[in-house]
Amino acid sequence: MRQKRVKMIIRNKNIWNKQETEQGRPKTHPDREETVPFGFQQIPKTEKVIRTTRHFNRVASKYDFMNTLLSFGIHYLWKRTAIEMMHLKPGDRVLDVCGGTGDLAVLAAKSVDISGKIIIYDINRKMMQVGRTQRHRTAQRNRIEYIQGDAESISFADEAFDAAMVGFGIRNLTHMELGFQEMHRILKPGGKMMCLEFSKPTASVFRWLYDVYSFHVMPLLGQILVGSRQAYTLLPESIRMFPLPEALSELLRDIGFHQVVYRRLTNGIAVVHVAEKP
Ligand SMILES: C[S@@+](CC[C@H](N)C(=O)[O-])C[C@H]1O[C@@H](n2cnc3c(N)ncnc32)[C@H](O)[C@@H]1O
Repeated sequence: MRQKRVKMIIRNKNIWNKQETEQGRPKTHPDREETVPFGFQQIPKTEKVIRTTRHFNRVASKYDFMNTLLSFGIHYLWKRTAIEMMHLKPGDRVLDVCGGTGDLAVLAAKSVDISGKIIIYDINRKMMQVGRTQRHRTAQRNRIEYIQGDAESISFADEAFDAAMVGFGIRNLTHMELGFQEMHRILKPGGKMMCLEFSKPTASVFRWLYDVYSFHVMPLLGQILVGSRQAYTLLPESIRMFPLPEALSELLRDIGFHQVVYRRLTNGIAVVHVAEKP
């Protein structure tokens, strides 16, 4: 049954960006609670944060290792490019939303120098603890702080930061647009917002290979190495639910950002958006 579903997913050209067709808006039924996507499933809105937290609790200890393995190490290059595109300056205060184990924060910390500050803001304590333990000896550790909280309701005052960034995290929110609105709110005028996310490869052959890899190989490695096939099925599914680069740019402009630019990386597997608060 499951194999049949996976085959269907790989043959179905519409797996990319399903939300544009059937899952864009939260669904409601007169007798039922509003639902939101969790991978390809629709689940009650109130459950998403609980399931997401459970998911990251399960993968936290192997998160960095699995990222490196599954992306063949390329995620470090993507993260470096994304940080370069932000043009951070010494002294900048940067919020790393959904910062997790802190890869982006460490790279940003080098750019802001000792006079700057990076705050990792994540709902999951375990993810931050794993990163903190791994990095307790790095030179930049004093420039990085950790705050546990929900990206949909950021516990900082308006205009408190020079820059805000989110790497592979916005997909996990129940209301992605709230996360972007919050990042907009906490930025100073002229402040930069950066979003690094997975997206749709542009070349069809490469996309086909990527679909096979992500719906067959990734879940298998998840099962063998983390003990959870489901955790690594959620990843490719949620990627295919995420808006394409143009649609995301439009959403950012609707929220109030301007000078929205994006860059596709590795044939569009990942995309960096950078935007400014006017
Ligand atoms: C895929 S990890 C990305 C971690 C890191 N930014 C990176 O690039 O490796 C996603 C992170 O988003 C966090 N997250 C999910 N929902 C969140 C929410 N509502 N508020 C804050 N963080 C959230 C998770 O706990 C997890 O650490």
